Amino acid sequence: KAAASVVEEHVSGAEREDEEYADVDWDNLGFSLVRTDFMFATKSCRDGNFEQGYLSRYGNIELNPAAGILNYGQGLIEGMKAYRGEDGRVLLFRPELNAMRMKIGAERMCMHSPSVHQFIEGVKQTVLANRRWVPPPGKGSLYLRPLLFGSGASLGVAAASEYTFLVFGSPVQNYFKEGTAALNLYVEEVIPRAYLGGTGGVKAISNYGPVLEVMRRAKSRGFSDVLYLDADTGKNIEEVSAANIFLVKGNTIVTPATSGTILGGITRKSIIEIALDLGYKVEERSVPVEELKEAEEVFCTGTAAGVASVGSITFKNTRSLLPLWIHVYICLEFYIYLLINNLQD
Ligand code: PLP
Ligand code: COI
Repeated sequence: KAAASVVEEHVSGAEREDEEYADVDWDNLGFSLVRTDFMFATKSCRDGNFEQGYLSRYGNIELNPAAGILNYGQGLIEGMKAYRGEDGRVLLFRPELNAMRMKIGAERMCMHSPSVHQFIEGVKQTVLANRRWVPPPGKGSLYLRPLLFGSGASLGVAAASEYTFLVFGSPVQNYFKEGTAALNLYVEEVIPRAYLGGTGGVKAISNYGPVLEVMRRAKSRGFSDVLYLDADTGKNIEEVSAANIFLVKGNTIVTPATSGTILGGITRKSIIEIALDLGYKVEERSVPVEELKEAEEVFCTGTAAGVASVGSITFKNTRSLLPLWIHVYICLEFYIYLLINNLQD
C-alpha cells in the first residue's frame, strides 16, 4: 500500500514538470544492472489466474528450495524498454507483443501466465514507480525485465503448482561495449543455440545458460558476440546470442525464417514492417552462412541490442569484412525512433 501511494505521487500533478531524476551519470550508461526503487510482483492462484499484484521495494526475493524454476528450469524472461519522449511522456514500445510472447512461451513451458492486460499493468506500474530512473530523452531507456517462473515447490519432475510474475527495471544505454560502432561476430560451428523441437523460439531462461561459455570464449578473443548455425545441418545462420540478424542485398532484406529455433524478435517484426513500407522486398527463409559474403550490409536487431551494424564476420577462422554503407540500417533505426515517439502513454 505504501508503495502504491508513492506511485500516485510520482504520476500526479504539476510535480511531474520538474520531477527529479535519479542520481545517475546519464552520459556513461552501459548495460549493467542499476538498482532502481521498486519492482512489481504477482502470483498465480490455484485456478491459474493471477492476483492483482503489488509494488515493493526492489530487493531479494524468497523462494522455496524446491521451486520449479530452481529445480526444473521453468522460467521465461522478457525484455522491453520505456523511453522518455521529448515532450516528457514515458513511452513503451509495443508492450502487447511482449505480453503475447510470454503467453506463447508459457504454453511451451507448461506454465500459467498473466493476461496481456495484467502483464502491461505490471510493466506500467513498474515504470511509473521508477519514473526517475527513465533516462532523459536521447540518453538511453529504462530496460524492463518481466520474469515468469515456477515458484511452487515440487520434488518430482512436474509443472509447478504456483507461478510468479515479476517485473524490474534498470536504466541502460548501449548493450554492446562497441557502443554504436560496428560489431565483429564470430560464427560458432560446434555448439548450436537451439534445436528443432526445443525452446529456441521462446524466451526460456534455459536458452541462455548453455551458450554462456561459447560467448565467453568469443568475447575473450575480442569478438562482440556469437552468430549461431542451425543444429540440423550446421549450414544456415540462425541468430546472435540475444538478437536477430538481417542481410541487405540491393533492394532486398533477408533474414532467417523463425521456424521454432529462432526467437521471433519484436524489433525484427518491426524492422520487417518498416522495410516493406519503405519499398524493400523482405525474404524470410534459410540463409546459408556463405551468403553473408554476398551482403552489402549486415545488421542485428533486439530490444537490448537496438539496430546494430555488423562490420565483420569470422567463420572457420576467416574474417570477412562487410562494407559499412550504413544507410539502410541507420534509416531503419530512424523509423523505429519515429515509431517510438508516436506511441501512446
Ligand atoms: N533473439 C534472442 C535470443 C533474444 O534474446 C532477443 C532479445 O530479446 C532477440 C532475439 C531480439 O528480440 P526482441 O527484438 O524482441 O528484443
Ligand atoms: C533483450 O533484448 O531484451 C534481451 O533479452 C537480450 C538480453 C540481454 C538477454
